[in-house]
Amino acid sequence: MRHLLRIGDLSVQDVEAILTLARVIKDKAKRGVQHRSLEGKVLAMIFEKPSTRTRVSFEVGMYQLGGLALFIDARTTQLGRGETIADTARVLSRYVDGVMIRANKHETVEEFAANSKVPVINGLTDRFHPCQILGDILTVQERWGDVRRTKVAYVGDGNNVANSWIEAAKLMGFELVLACPEGYDPHAGLIAELPPHIRIVRDPREAVVGAHVIYTDVWVSMGQEAEEEERKRVFAPYQVNDSLVKMAGPQVAVMHCLPAHRGLEITDSVIDGPNSIVLDQAENRLHVQKAILELLLGSHGLAPSGTRQERQEA
Ligand code: CP
Ligand code: NVA
Repeated sequence: MRHLLRIGDLSVQDVEAILTLARVIKDKAKRGVQHRSLEGKVLAMIFEKPSTRTRVSFEVGMYQLGGLALFIDARTTQLGRGETIADTARVLSRYVDGVMIRANKHETVEEFAANSKVPVINGLTDRFHPCQILGDILTVQERWGDVRRTKVAYVGDGNNVANSWIEAAKLMGFELVLACPEGYDPHAGLIAELPPHIRIVRDPREAVVGAHVIYTDVWVSMGQEAEEEERKRVFAPYQVNDSLVKMAGPQVAVMHCLPAHRGLEITDSVIDGPNSIVLDQAENRLHVQKAILELLLGSHGLAPSGTRQERQEA
């Protein structure tokens, strides 16, 4: 694999390589041991939409790996004045070692990758958010061990995050139940033929029974602001609150990719409560992205990684 555009493009071995390296990198960071596998490498980060976690974790990640990250607001580039995506990709390929893009349309990231000579990473599109879900799987594994033995209940909008959860469940084989209101299902192409371990239900209470994880995301994603009032009305029964968490049982971990709209998709008492692992989840974006960057931009390709010495240390 040369790019990371969606989890559906990865093999199980790719995901395992990313997670294994992320754990090594996280462990070294916790012990204060440097891990500078991308000395001298440069990542361009193009943003068509706002970001806190993705921007900062990629930027800090590149710095900690010994490289440099360039923050590029798409509106301040010639893209904003009509230069084509293809020409931009061809030119940036001459300057940098990798490109991360947060784009309005998934097709933009695909077109960029098709014209890029360097690896392209999807930092969120309207369709997918692969880096988020890879970080989330690391978090689930830290909490529950093998993700294949967990049940994840996704409650809310069938959006980019839900789509990436579906691709992850298809690949890794864990149980995923999504509770979405009618008309707000995940992408039609992804749910046309679901295996038995992935289900879509309408009632969030049905989804969370026996779940190891309750996961939610905003009701109004970036770019959907015009639908805000209608969405607030439709999604009101899908709030992750104390009574829903209680239905899952005391063991359940509550996750949210953040940013949260407190009092809408999740209550203060849940996001700040004992079941919430949202901050560990946010932190793991950093560790997983460093692994993705090393595997894609480093000399190894997306295959067993690290110098021989680092592998021995692990
Ligand atoms: N979860 C996530 O991608 O957050 P940002 O929008 O802040 O990057
Ligand atoms: N579904 C949200 C995720 C934000 C990280 C959005 O696209 O705005």
